[in-house]
Amino acid sequence: MPVIELRGIKRIYRMEGRQNESAVVVRALCGVDFSAEAGEFVSVMGSSGSGKSTLMNILGCLDKPSEGTYKLDGIETSKSDADAFAYIRNRKIGFVFQSFNLLARTTALENVELPLFYRGREKGRKRQSAQSRKERAVIALREVGLEKRMDHFPSQLSGGQQQRVAIARATVNDPSFILADEPTGNLDTGMTLEIMGLFQELNAGGKTIVMVTHEPELASYTKRIITLRDGELVSDKPVTERRSALDDLARWKRDHALLAGEGQAPGLLGAAEKYAAKKASL
Ligand SMILES: Nc1ncnc2c1ncn2[C@@H]1O[C@H](COP(=O)(O)OP(=O)(O)O)[C@@H](O)[C@H]1O
Ligand SMILES: [Mg+2]
Repeated sequence: MPVIELRGIKRIYRMEGRQNESAVVVRALCGVDFSAEAGEFVSVMGSSGSGKSTLMNILGCLDKPSEGTYKLDGIETSKSDADAFAYIRNRKIGFVFQSFNLLARTTALENVELPLFYRGREKGRKRQSAQSRKERAVIALREVGLEKRMDHFPSQLSGGQQQRVAIARATVNDPSFILADEPTGNLDTGMTLEIMGLFQELNAGGKTIVMVTHEPELASYTKRIITLRDGELVSDKPVTERRSALDDLARWKRDHALLAGEGQAPGLLGAAEKYAAKKASL
C-alpha cells in the first residue's frame, strides 16, 4: 500500500473580481496523479508558480483539493472533518520548513517534545508520561547528532543545528512521511550538505521523505524527482546517479580548507561543479 496516493488532484483558487469584473480563476493544480511508497525520497521541482506550494499544502493536510482524492496510509483524507484532518496532520506528517520554525524561548529538547504534547491532548488517547516524552525527544535528538545540545536555545545554535532540531521534531512522532519545504534555503553550502546527508541517513534508516527544492543539485541527493509545470506533473524520474551528500561534504571541506588559506570563499557546491566536470570528461 502506498504511503501517499494522489488521484486527479485539482486545486482551483477563485478570487472575486471587483465591481463589474468577473471572478478570476487560477488553476494551480490541473489533475495531478502521484503516489509514493514507504522508504522513498522524492524531490518536487518546478519553477515559481508551477504549483509546488499548492501541492505541499495538500500533501501536508493544510489544504484540501477542489477535486480528486488523497489517500494517506490508505485513509481518504479529503472526506475527514476538521478534527480528523488535524489529527492526520499532527500524527502522520513531520514538517520541516526553510525557516526552521522553532520556538525561540524554548530549549531544543522542549521544541522536540512539542508534537508529543499535542498528541497527549487528543481525546480518548492515552497520555504519555513526561518521562516517556522526554526519552523519545532525547532519542530523536540523538539521531540528528544533537543530544549534547538539548538544553540550548535556538539562538545558541547554528542554522544547521537549528534545522537538525526541526528534523528531530519532525521525526519524534514517527510520522508516515517527512514533508520538507526548501529545507536548506537558509543555509550555506556546508550546512546544506550536512542536512542533505542527514536526510539521506534517515531515509536509509527507512524514513519516507518528500522535499520541495528548486535546486537540481539538491534533487540529485534524493531517489526520485517529480516536476510540475503550470499545475501539471510533467516528469517523474528515478535519480540514476545518486550522489552522497556526506562524500560531497568531505570534498567541500577539503576544498574549503585549501581555499581558505588563499582568502577566497569557494563557490556554491564547488565540489558539485567538479563532479559535473569529471562526469562530462568520462
Ligand atoms: N491563495 C491563492 N490564491 C490565488 N492564487 C494562488 C494562491 N496560491 C497560489 N496561487 C496561484 O497558483 C499558482 C501556483 O502557485 P504555487 O503553488 O504557490 O506555486 P510555486 O510554489 O510552485 O511557486 C500560481 O499561479 C499562484 O499565483
Ligand atoms: Mg512556492
